[in-house]
Amino acid sequence: MPGHKTVCSIRSLKAAGKRISMLTAYDYPTARLLDRAGVDIILVGDSLANVVLGLDSTAQVGMEAMLHHARAVGRAVTDALVVADMPFEAYQPAGADAVGQARRLVDDAGCGAVKLEWFAGAVEVVVALRRAGIEVMGHVGLTPQTAAEFKVQGRDAASAAAILTQANALEAAGCFALVLECVRESLAQDITASLKIPTIGIGAGKYCDGQVLVLHDMLGLNERKVPRFVKQYADLSEQILQAVRQYKEEVEQGLFPDESRSFH
Ligand code: KIV
Repeated sequence: MPGHKTVCSIRSLKAAGKRISMLTAYDYPTARLLDRAGVDIILVGDSLANVVLGLDSTAQVGMEAMLHHARAVGRAVTDALVVADMPFEAYQPAGADAVGQARRLVDDAGCGAVKLEWFAGAVEVVVALRRAGIEVMGHVGLTPQTAAEFKVQGRDAASAAAILTQANALEAAGCFALVLECVRESLAQDITASLKIPTIGIGAGKYCDGQVLVLHDMLGLNERKVPRFVKQYADLSEQILQAVRQYKEEVEQGLFPDESRSFH
């Protein structure tokens, strides 16, 4: 389909039985590549904190940083739907102006939707955002902004039921899609079957309607330990190391620049 993908076109992929691809991007050149490759959704994730800014927690990234990176991604993308994470500070603290903050991501950075992690007040925030005409992707299971521990969610019947209830509540509140992070495959399968909106899994098995990975993890650009569910499709750290070492050696030996790269 030519032109920007929309929340409607993404929803219709589920109805048509087609799987949805989503990856994170935080800058212009990688967003361009993802868009050229035909990825359906590009997420300006708050994983920005860990993989780009060198911070310990996604809760540490603020709205100004999210806007800065979302604008760069927005400039690059002509086809994919761009979704940006609502940073913790924009909606979780009491009194935060979630609608005003989300508007900045949509109106100022040009995002097609925002993503919101589950928390006690999530339904109220989604309802307010939808009333303001802002499209919302929900996020349940492991919610890194507030998680005390990074482990598989929904292992016992009570917590699995709680996640299913959250998923249904977010659909009813008006989310157009839902990220399921780090949940048992059979729970993700049940949630996917019970919702009309697409589920997009990360560490949630193969029965979701789509999949998402953090770009730096799948390209081997993350020196931190990556979770077992990540498939590494390239080892760019090694390629960058080799290129930079070769450059350094050629500079030191006077081999770069050679005649072909000099002006006379
Ligand atoms: O911030 C992020 O990259 C995410 C994905 C893990 C879904 O929320």
